[in-house]
Amino acid sequence: MVAKRRVLLIVSGGIAAYKCLDLVRRLGERGFAVRTVMTKAAERFVTPLSFGALTNERVFTDLFDLDEEREIGHIRLARDTDLIVVAPATADIIAKMAGGHANDLATAVLLATDKPVLVAPAMNPRMWANPATQRNVRQLRADGIHFVGPASGEMAERGEAGTGRLVEVPELIEAIERLAMPESAAQSGALAGRHVLITAGPTHEPIDPVRYIANRSSGKQGYEIAAAAAQLGARVTLVSGPVTLTPPPGVETIRVVTAAEMLEAVSKALPADIGVFAAAVADWRLAQPKPEKIKKSAGGAAPTFKLAENPDILRTVATRQTDRPTLIVGFAAETEDVLAHAKKKLKSKGADWIVANDVSPETGIMGGDHNTVHLVTAAGVENWPNMSKCDVAARLVERIAQHLDQLRPKRTAAE
Ligand code: CTP
Repeated sequence: MVAKRRVLLIVSGGIAAYKCLDLVRRLGERGFAVRTVMTKAAERFVTPLSFGALTNERVFTDLFDLDEEREIGHIRLARDTDLIVVAPATADIIAKMAGGHANDLATAVLLATDKPVLVAPAMNPRMWANPATQRNVRQLRADGIHFVGPASGEMAERGEAGTGRLVEVPELIEAIERLAMPESAAQSGALAGRHVLITAGPTHEPIDPVRYIANRSSGKQGYEIAAAAAQLGARVTLVSGPVTLTPPPGVETIRVVTAAEMLEAVSKALPADIGVFAAAVADWRLAQPKPEKIKKSAGGAAPTFKLAENPDILRTVATRQTDRPTLIVGFAAETEDVLAHAKKKLKSKGADWIVANDVSPETGIMGGDHNTVHLVTAAGVENWPNMSKCDVAARLVERIAQHLDQLRPKRTAAE
């Protein structure tokens, strides 16, 4: 029997709260078990009775209600679920989450959870654009919180338009479907029993004890792929260069600094069924990094450095005689002639697939949350639309799972 997927919906106080009545009704139709927590402000827009009637569950509102705590404490509310959804999420609850507050039931649950959290903001466009809100959203994304929306358009306040509307219910459901994976399903998921090895982030190559060569990679795409593979039940090893991201839950993360360290960690993590090389490895390092901080010379002459080429991690793994992963996926970060370079890299590196993207500064891809990629394989090129890095990751790991199943189908119960 397929386990019922569980969602804990946290409703905060916004006019869009009424849309969540439709949301819980439709989630129920899709077989989700939904529990609701409402903030005090939310109760001014919609009554707990409405959510209670639609979910067939008691609605939780008070951190200090003895009856509620006895029935199911806030820690259990936070854990007995596959996904927490905050919708609508006001600027206030986003700020509290970013600051780690826990002064009501909703924020205490959010602080206590170890489950994925999806936030659907809804607020006035100026509140959304305010640097304080944007700072909080950046912080939460770095903490591994997922976002959907806000959408653009007319606001409830007459004459106001801009970005800040709660996304429409179908879009919310799509995001929930992607993230709410019951633990039991993950174990029998499409990548269950497979080991996925992923590299992510930049590498730093020391010049002296205080300076280094680096690049602008944020590691986001690689981290999203690690999270998506784990959600499909894979055992995931993520070898990460220096980034500020939180490791995804359930992923073994090995932190390294230089390309040489990355290669060593990757070699140790083999064998793997799938290798995804999303790291932006520095191509060169200093042939001899200086042991002491380099001082300016009295004569004003700038120092010169001799560079040495770094090992190509992808090519090293792809050309191994033993333990070569069944499927090797490389990335090609280009600023011109994206497809031509990607096709060349497919061959020269020995990869099976290349995910190519244009990282020119004007695309905003490096460091941003969206990506436009082309999947280059021996069979041809697929152009994917502009998507969030989270969606690119979900689509890529689904493709990987399908591909492996074709090569080595899993046994069915009848066999
Ligand atoms: N890669 C790697 N080790 C390196 C360099 C690159 O594993 N030393 C991998 C990257 O993780 C990526 C692919 O190779 O999957 C292509 O990386 P990219 O930086 O686009 O290409 P380079 O090989 O560095 O070539 P160039 O800089 O000339 O474009």
